[in-house]
Amino acid sequence: MSYITLALAKGRTAKDSMKLLEKANITFPDFDVKSRKLVFFNEDKTIKMIYVKAVDVTTYVEQGAADIGIVGKDNILEADADLYELLDLKLGQCKFVAASLKADPIKAGSTISVASKYTHVAQEFFKQKGVTVDTIKLNGSVELAPLINLADVIVDIVETGTTIKENGLTILEEIESISTRLVVNKASYATKTEAIQDFITELQNVLE
Ligand code: PRP
Repeated sequence: MSYITLALAKGRTAKDSMKLLEKANITFPDFDVKSRKLVFFNEDKTIKMIYVKAVDVTTYVEQGAADIGIVGKDNILEADADLYELLDLKLGQCKFVAASLKADPIKAGSTISVASKYTHVAQEFFKQKGVTVDTIKLNGSVELAPLINLADVIVDIVETGTTIKENGLTILEEIESISTRLVVNKASYATKTEAIQDFITELQNVLE
């Protein structure tokens, strides 16, 4: 029997994504966030779910190892992958911002250093503004970079604003709104249209 493969992002939004799937009667009886198991099936074995790092979801989907992915817009933008983004699940809402210690760190004609987990997003944002940047890739605690003179600016996610505030940073500009999205492999969408469309409709029906 054929099934569709869903890549679900681990991390912050995993619980809410699972709740939404459950609401749509898409359940994986063996699933437990604490388990070390990586592959799960729904009851009638029509959906195989792989539980993977958020940063890898677009890779699985783009390569066709998964037909559908549920992952944050932050990772989608950073990966710049060739896939369809078909639904906004409205979970994990936050935004990409550029922030700095100074209100005006960008001097015309000079190169500024930008620290981020999302160096591609940072490059694209400043390219559009005609600003040349050197990006510095960090994997966390990005807000620290301006405080220790590692970078002039950061590009990072703001949810409540607490991290920015507690580290004395100023938001220079909001770059983009982020939330959890449903993405689909392009070839899968052509060959498994009905199954994928049914899956999307089931989720759409339970979105507020
Ligand atoms: C994220 C993000 C910010 C913070 C924003 O980091 O990179 O640092 O959350 O949230 P806030 O606006 O509610 O304060 P995360 O907690 O994922 O950890 P990290 O710093 O290790 O990346």
